[in-house]
Amino acid sequence: MGFRKDFLWGGATAANQCEGGYQEGGRGLANVDVIPTGSERRAIITGKRKMTSFEEGYYYPAQEGIDMYHQFKSDIALFGEMGFKTYRLSIAWSRIFPQGDELEPNEAGLQFYEDLFKECHKYGIEPLVTITHFDCPMHLIIKYGGWRNREMIVFYERLCRVLFNRYKGLVKYWLTFNEINMILHAPFLGAGIYFEEGENEEQVKYQAAHHELVASALATKIAHEVDPNNQVGCMLAAASYYPYSCNPADVWEGKNKDRGNYFFIDVQSRGAYPAYALKRLEREGIHLEMSEEDQALLKQHTVDFISFSYYASRVATADESLLAKTAGNLFPTVKNPYLEASEWGWQIDPLGLRITMNDLYDRYQKPLFIVENGLGAVDTPNEQGEIIDDYRIDYLAAHIGAMRDAVELDGVDLLGYTSWGCIDLVSAGTGEMKKRYGFIYVDRDNQGNGTLKRSKKKSFDWYKKVIATNGEDL
Ligand code: BG6
Repeated sequence: MGFRKDFLWGGATAANQCEGGYQEGGRGLANVDVIPTGSERRAIITGKRKMTSFEEGYYYPAQEGIDMYHQFKSDIALFGEMGFKTYRLSIAWSRIFPQGDELEPNEAGLQFYEDLFKECHKYGIEPLVTITHFDCPMHLIIKYGGWRNREMIVFYERLCRVLFNRYKGLVKYWLTFNEINMILHAPFLGAGIYFEEGENEEQVKYQAAHHELVASALATKIAHEVDPNNQVGCMLAAASYYPYSCNPADVWEGKNKDRGNYFFIDVQSRGAYPAYALKRLEREGIHLEMSEEDQALLKQHTVDFISFSYYASRVATADESLLAKTAGNLFPTVKNPYLEASEWGWQIDPLGLRITMNDLYDRYQKPLFIVENGLGAVDTPNEQGEIIDDYRIDYLAAHIGAMRDAVELDGVDLLGYTSWGCIDLVSAGTGEMKKRYGFIYVDRDNQGNGTLKRSKKKSFDWYKKVIATNGEDL
């Protein structure tokens, strides 16, 4: 009973939020480098305000991140001490192809990740690698327009071939695109897209999504060809929608909102555009350039497992005008009156994780992998300098408990769990450091001050025990 014996416990990060070293080892500039903190961040990540180079008067937190580029050995040692079985990280594309469209990769970038993967294996940690996590070389954005351009598939394919060949035997678990549905909500972050005045944004986003979906199928194909042991997953910013009431109009709205997200996974996992999506695109006058070869590729190369992030459930209603809204990883939602929320307004719903897992497993019948979950909170060291983060422990214990129910009581096949931001890192949504998720505290503030020194929070030992007992002792 309980979790599988080989359950992959661990933590997750993304290159742009922790590596820093943005000019080191021949790395090229990327979209994530030029996203500052502050009030314009939202407009930039959604592609409404164009920022393609550094502008004066802004602070760009990804430049240094938490300096993991230099400190990965000691950070991985701490993950090893917690007993991690896996560590989810992402590749900074512009370390491997600084411009993105070169024919030959950058050896220093390849060596960096090789060293990092070898370091993981020293501790028996299996790397789980996201090929792109909100990451796109800036040159590809300026010259080609990011994922709106079909050429991107060629560059991504080249990246994937290099990665799969170079890391054969070192990496087995791959995710093609982080939160692929984020392209609809934050297209600059998700796909290097900003909009021109007056263009049909939905048309651009869905065509770009099609390019990513084809690229994802191609990556899956190549991964399996290079090494049949490779396991490739899609990645969804998940969370089921609850209808606000039993009014059928609310229920229908919830179903449609869910489909807006399932759309991507339906293609990646079932291998074809679902009927409801084709009808909707047609109704909305969105025309997709899609060849027969694309369709064959999508059909033949579906993913091996379904990975997803879960932070909070969402609420749908046919008439939002009268209801309060709340935040949630770039998916603003109607406020659920039954739930508490974090300091950033993200609602807290452990049972929602079990519901979401059941929805995904019922729909796809493939193993699931929870690759992000956690609580972003302010941590204040006490007089002894310790961080007693019981609130984080409570959040994680409740969610892991719900996930255990989904496995034990509902029979969901779950490969693993990597909590988000296992070491404090830069927030993707706000660019802040003070929104912390980690078991490991990093001394750095929102303005980039601090020693970058790492220290263990109370949750560090707690998670170590959770892993040691395979999730029995929460
Ligand atoms: C997910 C992203 O949407 O949410 C992560 O994949 C991100 O990159 C995480 O960090 C938490 O969001 P935030 O805004 O609190 O960093």
